[in-house]
Amino acid sequence: MAHIPLESYAEAADYLKGRLAEPRPTIGIVCGSGLSSLADALEGDVTVIKYEDIPGFVQSTAMGHKGQLAFGMLSGKHVVCMQGRFHCYEGYTVQQATLPIRVLRLLGVESLLVTNAAGGVNPKYNVGDVALIADHLSLPGIAGVNALVGPNIDEFGTRFPSISDLYTPRLRRIAAKVYLTNAFLREERKFCLHEGVYAWCYGPCFESRAELRALATLGADLVGMSTVPEAVVAKHCGMEVLAMSLVTNRCVSRCEPDTIEAMAAELAGQPLVDVAEEFPHHEEVLAAAAARTHDIQEFVRCIVKEM
Ligand code: 6GU
Repeated sequence: MAHIPLESYAEAADYLKGRLAEPRPTIGIVCGSGLSSLADALEGDVTVIKYEDIPGFVQSTAMGHKGQLAFGMLSGKHVVCMQGRFHCYEGYTVQQATLPIRVLRLLGVESLLVTNAAGGVNPKYNVGDVALIADHLSLPGIAGVNALVGPNIDEFGTRFPSISDLYTPRLRRIAAKVYLTNAFLREERKFCLHEGVYAWCYGPCFESRAELRALATLGADLVGMSTVPEAVVAKHCGMEVLAMSLVTNRCVSRCEPDTIEAMAAELAGQPLVDVAEEFPHHEEVLAAAAARTHDIQEFVRCIVKEM
């Protein structure tokens, strides 16, 4: 986990400042897997800057991620969309994966709206539902994979930040109110909105069944491979954070089918209980995200208006 010095963040921010007109954005939006087209909602003159052109940026390799910043207007506000993010499972350090967040901070971004595609651990969550993230379980974080490990950069924030109110209550209330009062979202019943706990798992494997049972026991409603590092870094450098998951697949933990029991039943001439299995696939994640992208776009547009 190599430390990235302040100068590297500043170099990227200075490069961007040189290519951008003022006023610069105060709201950043991270587009999750299959949600890059959230940036299609941008209005006005849109400036697109490829990650490969920004000094210090790494490349986004995940399918469904574009790899560029898009600057424009949304609901009358200056915003920047990250079309594509970096994940630790791509081989990046957690510091590399979160570098863009600090660069956005240096550009003047004050609020970060993070989206992701996640598995629904809570049995009440269905594919296509959206959940505001109220809190997280950072399993890698507990084990020492935290972007804030290493020399603290005091210019960004304090050595020992509190993350009790990481997912800014003010923004969650705005999102809830938008959902409950906006005709487009409410009357047409576009999607079901929840609020829950997101468990960050490193990936790239989807979780084993035993891990899913353990996560449910620990209080997870959602599971995914992103968002938490970005949210922690954003909080550390003083940003407000709103994060939401699109449930792209259900991963309600079932017991491992017991081979001994099943064979005993078979030998006794009893019918085998057919355990229907749903294994997660990246293609289904992208398909579910694509199906919901317009509704989330509208939701985000309405939230930004109220921010
Ligand atoms: Cl089931 N697990 C993880 N870790 N990430 C996901 C997912 C599952 N579904 C979408 N993203």
